[in-house]
Amino acid sequence: MQDSKSTPSLFSTVPTAPPDAILGLNTQHRSDTFTKKVNLGVGAYRTAEGEPYVLPVVRRVEQALAKDPSTTHEYLPQDGLKHFCDLSAKLILGADSPAFTNDRTVTVQALSGTGALRVGFTFVARFLSEETAVYIPKPSWSNHKNVVVQSGLPPTKEYRYFDYGTGAVDLEGMIEDLRAAPAGSVVLLHGCAHNPTGADPTKDQWEHILQVVQEGKLVPFFDNAYQGFASGSLEEDAWSVRRFVKAGIDMLVGQSYAKNMGLYGERVGALTVISSEGGNGEAIRSQLKAIIRAMYSNPPKHGAMVAASILGDGDMFAEWEGELRKMADRIRDMREKLRAALIKNGTPGNWDHIVKQIGMFSFTGLTAAQVEFMKNKYHIYMTSNGRISMAGLTNYTVEYVADAMKDAVVSLKKGVLHNM
Ligand SMILES: Cc1ncc(COP(=O)(O)O)c(C=O)c1O
Repeated sequence: MQDSKSTPSLFSTVPTAPPDAILGLNTQHRSDTFTKKVNLGVGAYRTAEGEPYVLPVVRRVEQALAKDPSTTHEYLPQDGLKHFCDLSAKLILGADSPAFTNDRTVTVQALSGTGALRVGFTFVARFLSEETAVYIPKPSWSNHKNVVVQSGLPPTKEYRYFDYGTGAVDLEGMIEDLRAAPAGSVVLLHGCAHNPTGADPTKDQWEHILQVVQEGKLVPFFDNAYQGFASGSLEEDAWSVRRFVKAGIDMLVGQSYAKNMGLYGERVGALTVISSEGGNGEAIRSQLKAIIRAMYSNPPKHGAMVAASILGDGDMFAEWEGELRKMADRIRDMREKLRAALIKNGTPGNWDHIVKQIGMFSFTGLTAAQVEFMKNKYHIYMTSNGRISMAGLTNYTVEYVADAMKDAVVSLKKGVLHNM
C-alpha cells in the first residue's frame, strides 16, 4: 500500500478562485476593527440605526408558523410551493395579466433571484440552444456573467446601457447594440432599479426597447430583484414586465423576495416562463422540474411559506406595502442627505445624480482608485465601480462618508461621471 504522505493530493493544484466582487467586501469589512468603519458594499437594507431589518409582518408570520402543529418539514415538489408560485406570478404580472390565459405561463419556485436566473439560463441552454448569445447591460450586477456561463452558455455579450455624461440610460447606444444582436439572442433586462447605476428607462424608452426586441426576435429575460424598492410601489415597479407581456412574446421573468420582504438568506424567489402561444405548459414545467431535480432536488420551504402567507392575505399584504414604502422612503431620504452633505462640505462636482437615481444603489461616479483610497484611509467599503448601497448609510454616518468622498475627489481628481 502506498504511503498517503508521499502522494500529493489530486486537489493540491486547485487554484484559488478570485474573490467575489461584492461578497468579498463583507469579509473585509467584518475583519476590520476600526470603530467608524462603514459597509456600503452589499445590497441589504439596514435600519436608521444601521441594523439588519426583519419586517414585523414577516416576524409575525414566522411566529404563527412555529406554533402551528399542522406545519411539517416534508419535501416540497421540485417546482416548489404551488400557492407561492401562483401568488408570485400574480404579483409580477398583475392578477388580470393576459399571460394567464391559454396556459401560457409556468412558474416554479427558485432559490431567490440568483436561482431563478440559474434555472432560467439552464433552460435556455437546453431548449433554445447552447450557443444562444446572452446580452447583459454594461454595466450590470457582477454575478450575471457568472450565472450565464455556469448555466452552459457562451460568455455574455454586453449592450451599452449607461451614459456617463448625463448619468441616464444611453438609449441610442442600447438600441444600436440590440439591433445588432442575432435573432433568438436573450436580452437580460433589469425590470426596475437597475443595479449598479440606479438609472431606469422611462416608459417611452421601454416602448422603444420593446419594439427593437420584437423586430429583432430577441428573447427578454427580466431580472426583478427590487420590485417595490425603486418607487415604493409594487405595481409601478412591475410596469416594464407587464408591458412586455402585453406584447405577447416569449420571455422569462425572475423574481426575488430578498430585498422587498427582507428574506435574503431564506432564498425565496420564482422563475416564470411565458410562451407566446399556449398549450405546452406541462412539457415546459416537466423540463424545469428535471433541471431542478438534478441541481438541488427541491427548494426550501420555510421562506416560501412566509412569503405565500403575506401575499395571500389582504391585511398582511397591505401592511407589507406600507413597510416597502417606508424602506424606499428611507433610501430616498439618505440620497437627499448625502447630496446635501456633499454640497455643504464643498465637494467639487455636481451630485444631482445621487437623488435622480433610484433603487437601493447609487452609482457615485467615484473611480476604482478613489474607492480604494476611501477604504484604506476611512474604512468605508464599496464596490470598485463606485457603487454604494444607500441603505447602508445612516444619519450618523452620512457626513463621515461625504467628508471621505470629498477627500477622495480632491486628492485623486476626476470621477468617471463627466460632471465630476
Ligand atoms: C440585479 C440583481 N439580480 C439578482 C440579484 C439576486 O439576489 P438574490 O439571489 O439574493 O435574490 C441581485 C442581488 O443583489 C441583483 O442586484
